[in-house]
Amino acid sequence: MDLEDEGYISDDTASVVSGRPMSVVSYNSSRDSAGYLRPHAGRTFNVMNPMYMLPADESEWGRLDKQHAMLLYLCQGLYEAPDLVKRALKPDPYGRQKMVLDVGTGGANWAMAMAQEFPHVEIVGTDLAPDTKRPLPENCRLEIDDARCDFSHYYNQCDVIHARSVANGIPDYEAFIHEMAQCLRPGGVALLVEGDFQMLNENKQPQAMAIGYGGPGQSWWQRVLFEAYHLMKRNDSSMDAGYMLDTYFRRNGSFENCGYARKWVNIGAWGHAETAEQTQVRHKVGELMRKNAIEFLNSLRPLLSGRYEQDVIERFIGGANKELSELSVHMYARWHYVWGTLKYDAPEERPDPYILNFSEFPEPWPAPDIIGTREDETLWKWAY
Ligand SMILES: C[S@@+](CC[C@H](N)C(=O)[O-])C[C@H]1O[C@@H](n2cnc3c(N)ncnc32)[C@H](O)[C@@H]1O
Repeated sequence: MDLEDEGYISDDTASVVSGRPMSVVSYNSSRDSAGYLRPHAGRTFNVMNPMYMLPADESEWGRLDKQHAMLLYLCQGLYEAPDLVKRALKPDPYGRQKMVLDVGTGGANWAMAMAQEFPHVEIVGTDLAPDTKRPLPENCRLEIDDARCDFSHYYNQCDVIHARSVANGIPDYEAFIHEMAQCLRPGGVALLVEGDFQMLNENKQPQAMAIGYGGPGQSWWQRVLFEAYHLMKRNDSSMDAGYMLDTYFRRNGSFENCGYARKWVNIGAWGHAETAEQTQVRHKVGELMRKNAIEFLNSLRPLLSGRYEQDVIERFIGGANKELSELSVHMYARWHYVWGTLKYDAPEERPDPYILNFSEFPEPWPAPDIIGTREDETLWKWAY
């Protein structure tokens, strides 16, 4: 995609770094970013991909900082499968430059931390609208790129490719996995991470959402997520990518040494782990997740405001804010991780798309208790 033709950027922003072919443009100036952004409902959004309806501004980067810190605690590091990642990023005996691609890099937290951990590796973060104000390590650069398009400018170049929490800007997540596979060199590592919009209750069962004016055991936070899930899904976002991550990844057929981890994060500092030390980590993770959730409410406000009256939004978001601030409902969020290395004989063709059949889901998904209610009829008649 040529952004200059689209009038988004000026000539002097295009450049070539390290002699590598580049997706679109590499930049580090806050001046350039104005062309990629638009104001909407009091926040700032990317201009390229209308299906990605979360902001790209200072507040959002602050939220993502907390989410990044939370995930660092959760994984005890930047990535799963450390043996595979470290092997793939070992300096090449023949001097070939090793390279990591972070797709949907956002505030570039992961990309910058990888650049520090692997100073001999070139780290590229791509995004619709990355944070351009942070000073980057020398071996890290950011590019504007829409991951809905093909990645042919990176085919067969990457030693590690990572994408975390990008599914709501991706219409066909299986095609996305296939493109990522094309970017890897044989033996290179794919790392994918997605969260769910379905929260779990203390017993790790689907959390009931608040209906009407709410009731005991019901959650407004789950209600906001339910609304956002459907609004984003209606925009074609891959909202089930987290839940389906392992299935999609294995079906692709390009990877070996595959692994899958499902992690539960308590929202807020509640509950105990086996040891005092583990309880402390659990509470730190929970507190970061709670703060992330409170800020996420504001990030979702513009999305909801396109669809609901102000008083309905205030009921939903105000209720969720109070609930999260008082920690009145104990819930878990769930994160999904997959990884694998590209086979030496990986197939070039992608498999036929997986036909999602909700009856195969082992648990109700997403919180279905609103479907068919009166509230459903009034709020949802526009939806499908
Ligand atoms: C929730 S943020 C996560 C950022 C980062 N991966 C992290 O974990 O901190 C999602 C990011 O993905 C980017 N994104 C979403 N859809 C995209 C697409 N189609 N192409 C490129 N970037 C995309 C967004 O612009 C946003 O910065």
